Amino acid sequence: MYPWQDYSGRTSALKLAIFVALFGPGLWTALSFAMGWLQPQPFTAAIREIGLWTIRLIFIALAITPLRAILQWSRLILVRRMIGVAAFAYAIAHLSLYTADQMFDLAKVASEIVHRIYLTIGFAAVLGLSALAATSTDAMTRRLGGRNWQRLHRLVYGIALLAVVHYCMQSKLDLWEPTIVAGIYGWLMGYRLLARYVAVRGRLPLPWVGLLGVMAAVATALGETAYFWLAFGVAPMRVIAANWSLVTGVRPAAIVLGLALAVTAAGAVRALMTLPAKRRPGFA
Ligand code: HEM
Repeated sequence: MYPWQDYSGRTSALKLAIFVALFGPGLWTALSFAMGWLQPQPFTAAIREIGLWTIRLIFIALAITPLRAILQWSRLILVRRMIGVAAFAYAIAHLSLYTADQMFDLAKVASEIVHRIYLTIGFAAVLGLSALAATSTDAMTRRLGGRNWQRLHRLVYGIALLAVVHYCMQSKLDLWEPTIVAGIYGWLMGYRLLARYVAVRGRLPLPWVGLLGVMAAVATALGETAYFWLAFGVAPMRVIAANWSLVTGVRPAAIVLGLALAVTAAGAVRALMTLPAKRRPGFA
């Protein structure tokens, strides 16, 4: 079976589109590297770009379960494995670029991984992704059995956390984007936790999805406040207050809230579309 075919062996437009799109960032980075557009530090720029896509793909794979339920789009599941395997491929490319940047001195790479904690954490994430990729073939899924496979693949929650920590640690001063990523991680994990207790027919009711968005945004603001307080001694109220003005730019909590509410709104529109015509509200 080709990656763009569904279980019945037919070509799936969704799978084909995602399959082609997954090559995009890698090819673009390779082209930029070859054309000299990544000067003055082409390796550092390529490591960063591919690292960003690795974490994005891990998160997109993690978002499939909630989006599938909220948007009532069951076929999304068809592309989850492909996105997960692509995340692994990008992680390997990220590690390979780092190795190339170290002139393929494997002893040095190993020593850096042991001595620099953010690299140790990144490497642990790559090892975890390797285990998931190795068990993602149809044959391995059958061999492990559905329940064991699912249990093993819950490793991805820990892997995503390691990826967030690696991202935050290497970003040092500018934590704007990593804070957003951490907030989205909170939303993704919060969804799974809430779904365990309050799901109705496997789906988290939309008011809960909205509430989860608000909770994730509050947690993001509190996390950012704690960081500025502990790292730079900035008074917590100053950071909290920054969330209500645009003087320091749009704060991560606002972005997390915006994304979460957009997903909730899309879920509401979808719910309206699936209501039988008679039960749809009339606006005339
Ligand atoms: C799944 C595993 C990994 C993920 C998701 C990941 C992700 C990232 C991300 C998002 C960045 C920041 C990009 C930016 O600043 O815009 C980054 C930077 C970096 N990563 Fe990773 N990484 C992983 C594993 C590794 C491993 C195993 C190594 C090397 C042993 C590594 C080495 C680096 C280095 C050196 C940088 C900093 C580049 C620089 O700014 O100088 N990463 N990574």
